[in-house]
Amino acid sequence: MKCKKCGETAALDLRRHNAAFCSPHFIEFFRKQVREAIRHYRMFEPDDTVMVAVSGGKDSLALWDVLIEEGYRTCGVYLDLGIFDYSVESRAKCEAFAAARGQTLVIERVAEAVGAPIPVVQKATRRPTCSACGLSKRYLINRAALTHGYTVAATGHNLDDEAATLFGSVMHWQTDALSRQAPMLPSTHPKLIRRVKPLYRLSERETAAYAFLRGIDYIVEECPFARGATSLAHKDVLNRMEEASPGAKHNFLFGFLDKARAAFEAAESVTLLECASCGQVTTGEICAFCKLADQVKRHTAP
Ligand code: FES
Ligand code: ZN
Ligand code: ZN
Repeated sequence: MKCKKCGETAALDLRRHNAAFCSPHFIEFFRKQVREAIRHYRMFEPDDTVMVAVSGGKDSLALWDVLIEEGYRTCGVYLDLGIFDYSVESRAKCEAFAAARGQTLVIERVAEAVGAPIPVVQKATRRPTCSACGLSKRYLINRAALTHGYTVAATGHNLDDEAATLFGSVMHWQTDALSRQAPMLPSTHPKLIRRVKPLYRLSERETAAYAFLRGIDYIVEECPFARGATSLAHKDVLNRMEEASPGAKHNFLFGFLDKARAAFEAAESVTLLECASCGQVTTGEICAFCKLADQVKRHTAP
């Protein structure tokens, strides 16, 4: 297989784009996709400051790498979930990445903010681990960006992640989730930071290849709580469809974004208030994060 750009031996074959690239041209293709995502959704401008939520995995570190290379002013935020060795190792990967590039890494400890590490939170709430974890992540990333004066929060969600989330929401017709699923969620309140997903055009395989070719040292293991999660089953179904018909995931996600999303968005209109306890944005009186912290406190009280 030959590179579409220069005719050299290709390092990667991208069936859904009907193209193959050598290493330098793949890296160029990857960055072009990120630039296109930023441009299309007006995610940020050169004078914005971007806080990248990094987990130590390939996607978020690849994203941070591209944004640094593109000349944006960035910093990383790592959420220490307190999940045993997984957290220790993933934090070390983020610290090494930031140090090698002279970037700032903000560390937020979930145990400090919620009152206990994620494994204990799970026992206290009996909710699926990832729901308390996702709630804490959204809250703490927003709070960190506000505290440190960043204008945008970016996450490393890729095409596979987004297609799997969409699939899950459609399976259960969660219309509120459908209205909120977008590569860019604008700030609708002074205390709500704009959220963006600049990798939504790139597949998991492509972010892995980028991280590898750029020599990024990332944690390969998934969070131990992700095992058996339904999102993995959804990814599996979509992978099989992709295998049978390259481009299936892309068409599913992009079709939704281009043609269907607006209909769900119109149906959803909420008034945002400030939480009586912590002051962050909520739709009720007390935000979901404060309720979670309270539940954990009651559970762990002697
Ligand atoms: Fe949230 Fe694993 S990353 S539970
Ligand atoms: Zn080439
Ligand atoms: Zn609150």
